[in-house]
This record gives sequence, C-alpha cells and structure tokens, in this order.
Amino acid sequence: STPTPQELLAIAIDVAREAADTAYRMRAAGVEVAATKSTITDVVTAADRAVERQVLDALATIRPDDSVLGEEYGAGAPGATGSGVRWIVDPIDGTVNYLYGLAHSAVSLAAEVGGVVVAGVVRNVFTGEEWTATLGGGAWRAGQRLRCSTETDLGQALVATGFGYDAARRSHQARVVAGLISHVRDIRRLGAAALDLCLTAEGRVDAYFEKGLAAWDQAAGGLVASEAGLRVAGLRGLPAGPDLVIAAPEALFAPLHDRLDDLDAAGGP
Ligand code: IPD
Repeated sequence: STPTPQELLAIAIDVAREAADTAYRMRAAGVEVAATKSTITDVVTAADRAVERQVLDALATIRPDDSVLGEEYGAGAPGATGSGVRWIVDPIDGTVNYLYGLAHSAVSLAAEVGGVVVAGVVRNVFTGEEWTATLGGGAWRAGQRLRCSTETDLGQALVATGFGYDAARRSHQARVVAGLISHVRDIRRLGAAALDLCLTAEGRVDAYFEKGLAAWDQAAGGLVASEAGLRVAGLRGLPAGPDLVIAAPEALFAPLHDRLDDLDAAGGP
C-alpha cells in the first residue's frame, strides 16, 4: 500500500540528516571541484556526487520499488513493482555557497505520489536548520508551524531571487532585477533556491521568484512555501515550473506577478 505523507516525511528526514552530515564533514575536510557542467560557475563538487549517491543508496535500501530523480545522477528506474512513489533529490542546493564556505547550502529531498509532491525536507548543511512539510499538514521548523509574511505592499517587500548558470539567461535575469528593484524594498540573492523558498515560509523574505529552476531545486521548498500560505505558481495561471516560479503571499502575488510579466521575467533565453 502507498505510504502516507507522514511516513514518507519520516524517511526523508532521516535520509536528509545523514546526507547533510556527510556534506558538512566533506566541507570541513576541504572541498574539491570534481568537474564543471554548463559553465565554469556551475561547479559540481565531489561532495554533490557523494551525497547524492548516499541518498540513492539509502532510499534503495528502505524503499527499493520507488523511483528517483536527482540533480547529479538523473532519473533512476523504479524497482520491480513500481510503487508510484518518486523521490526528488538535490544533494547540495547552493553549491557555490558550499564551495566558498558560505553557510547557506542545503540538502533537499521530496517525495511525490502520483506526480504530486506530498512530503519534503530541506536541511541547511551548515546550521542544521530544517524545514519540513506534508501536503495538507503544514510547514514546520523546530516544532513551530510556519506562516508566511503578512506584507501587503510590494513596495515594502523583501524579494529573493536567483540566477541560472547560462550567461545569456543571467543577462536577462539581471535586466528583470534592474526593472524590479525600485518597486520593492530590496532584492536578495542568497544562492540556494530551496532555502529561498523555505525563508518565504516564515517571512524571513516576503516573496521569491526565479526563472529556470529544475524540479530538484523547488520540489521540497515549494511544498514548504505553499503549506505556509504562499501562492506558488507561474505566470498567467501556469503552475510553477521551469519558466518561472513565483512564491508570494496572496496579497503580493498579483502585483509581483504583473510586474514580472511586464518585465518579461519568463521570456528571454
Ligand atoms: C542553484 C541555486 C541557486 C539558483 C540556481 C540553482 P545548485 O542550485 O539554487 O540559488 O539561483 O538557479 O541552479 O546548482 O546550487 O544546486
């Protein structure tokens, strides 16, 4: 039978804690650049690979019939019976922060049932801060149920965003930020999308948007954000996805959405 969201979350928490420990220990031991992906800024450390391998091995032991999707190793086939559960893992979100020893990187692990994310955990590798959510069960950190910002004025809102690794896309994203910055309190580029989403869940930033996120960047954090009351969606009624993710409290969603639409935030390369 299909496990409940709470059962999947319990597994996710155990696996993510061990993964975060490994990431922390590898960072303390001195991190190595194992390879680069699309550009030199897209650093893949030995740790990303080791941590994802550890997560995949742990899940294969606990839940052998589930399928997986990970940032470093891609999609793994479901086990013999195909359980309908898929795990989505970002072993180290905020890889550049990790490389530089900026204490803002996370393990992100989400569980989908039938294509819907039902449980997720995001754990800061350096600080141990841990955000969790289950579908319909709220978003939590340190035993506290989380609620998003009650800000209603976009001009007073602290808005987080991020940039992709592709040079043309970054230029486009910089133009969007240039057009937005005088209409909000300020902009933050903290460097880990999963953590950005979790910070919106407790109003440590008011809202967040980004173009070009992969599933592993947003699966767990997106559930944490929506369970904390944010509207998490794309442009013009589309669901949040690779074109654009906007996470904003209800009152800020329309003004931020319209501003981003005017600035063609989902357009460009
Ligand atoms: C990146 C971070 C960054 C975001 C990028 C992501 P990675 O993930 O989340 O904040 O702006 O779009 O690719 O490469 O560090 O796992």
